[in-house]
Amino acid sequence: MINDPAVTDYLAGLEPEPDALLAEMRAHGDRDRIPIVEHVTGGLLETLATATGAKRAVEVGTAIGVSTLHLSRGGAHVTSFEVDPERYEAAKEYLKRGGFEPDLRLQDATEGLASLEPGSFDLGFIDGPKAGYGTHLDQIVGLLRPGGLLLVDNVLMSGGAATGEPTDQWSEESVALIRDFNADLKARDDLRATFLAVGDGVALAVRQ
Ligand SMILES: C[S@@+](CC[C@H](N)C(=O)[O-])C[C@H]1O[C@@H](n2cnc3c(N)ncnc32)[C@H](O)[C@@H]1O
Repeated sequence: MINDPAVTDYLAGLEPEPDALLAEMRAHGDRDRIPIVEHVTGGLLETLATATGAKRAVEVGTAIGVSTLHLSRGGAHVTSFEVDPERYEAAKEYLKRGGFEPDLRLQDATEGLASLEPGSFDLGFIDGPKAGYGTHLDQIVGLLRPGGLLLVDNVLMSGGAATGEPTDQWSEESVALIRDFNADLKARDDLRATFLAVGDGVALAVRQ
């Protein structure tokens, strides 16, 4: 939790309950200990995709498709990368049941992002391996059109980003990495970035 627990609980309580499909996916994630976006973060993704009218989104880290489902429900056709075959298959099935056919790719994101057309995406979401955040940032900035929106999850790492200390969920190495990442993100002159204390911390940046 990155906020006062009472505030976190209050905001979580305001979020509508997941529908049956989303509830099943979230239960799957809990059961198999698959890291997926917090429910409030999913709501944020859906709202931002809707608000920006994003038609094409690119995502790093599909897992079983929870964030992909939110972006799809926000109106975006999502191209998403995952390296775990079981998770990829589960995501495909869930998204199909949800009425969507995103472009899910069982492929290393660094490799896959390099094959996409520069400037052709309205929205990018980075939620893959933390060691790849810097590389994926450079790649996704190149894929966004001017005015396109970049979102990045876990930028506050349960508060570790602020304290510089490891947490139950995040190692010292990950915390050091995200602190450097956040500083780099803010310093870039091709992005206008800001940070939201939602879920585990979400960075939001507009491509200049
Ligand atoms: C935090 S999870 C993604 C959660 C998902 N965005 C959601 O909230 O529903 C990160 C995922 O990235 C995948 N991953 C790890 N290395 C990867 C790589 N090199 N390319 C693409 N995906 C990768 C992991 O298997 C894992 O499922």
